[in-house]
Amino acid sequence: MSDPVARGRPPPEEFRRAMARWATGVSVVTAHHAGEDAGLTVNALLSIALAPPSLLVSLQESVDTLPAIEASGAFAVSLLSARQRSISERFARAVPSREKFLDLPVHRGATGAPLVDGALAAAECRLTAVVPAHDHRLLLGEVVRVELGPEDDPLVFFRSGYGSAEGPGSLRLPPPGR
Ligand SMILES: Cc1cc2nc3c(=O)[nH]c(=O)nc-3n(C[C@H](O)[C@H](O)[C@H](O)COP(=O)(O)O)c2cc1C
Repeated sequence: MSDPVARGRPPPEEFRRAMARWATGVSVVTAHHAGEDAGLTVNALLSIALAPPSLLVSLQESVDTLPAIEASGAFAVSLLSARQRSISERFARAVPSREKFLDLPVHRGATGAPLVDGALAAAECRLTAVVPAHDHRLLLGEVVRVELGPEDDPLVFFRSGYGSAEGPGSLRLPPPGR
C-alpha cells in the first residue's frame, strides 16, 4: 500500500463536497465593540468542555466580526431555529454590520454582545484563546452565561443547503445535488 500522505492532498472542492455531508446546526456569533455591533453566521461551532463550560468557533481570518471579538474580549452565540433561516442568510452576507442588525430584535446579557431574540439557546463567552489555523482563527470561549429560548425545531445546514429537523428520526433535507 502506498503512503496516504505521500499521495498528496484531495482538491479543495472534493474536500468541500465531502464535508458538505456533515450536518450541522446554524448559529449567529456576535460581538459589541466601540458602540458597534458585529456578527456573522457560523456553523463551525464545537462544545469543548462542561467544566469549565467552554466552546470553540472557527472564523475565517478575513471576517469583519473577528476584530470586534478580539478587541472586546467576548462573543455571544445564538443557536438558530428553523424559523430563523432569513437571519442566517442575512448574517452570511458581506454587508456592513449596521445593515445586518437593522430592525432585528436583539437583547443583551452579561458581555454587551447582542443575542438574537427567539433563538433556541444562547451562550455568552469570555474569549480565552485565539489559535491560528491556516486562513482561520479558532476562538476558544469560556461560557459566562447561557439562556434557553423556545422549544422550536433547529435550523440545519446540510449538502450546502438549509433543512430542519423535527426531532430524532425526522430530518427534512434540502433536495439532492446542491
Ligand atoms: C450556513 C453558513 C455557515 C457559515 N459558517 C461560517 C463559519 O463557521 N466561520 C466563518 O468564518 N464563516 C462562516 N460562514 C460565512 C460567514 O457567515 C460570512 O462570510 C459573513 O459574511 C462574514 O461576515 P463579517 O465579515 O461581517 O464578519 C458561514 C455561512 C453560512 C451560510
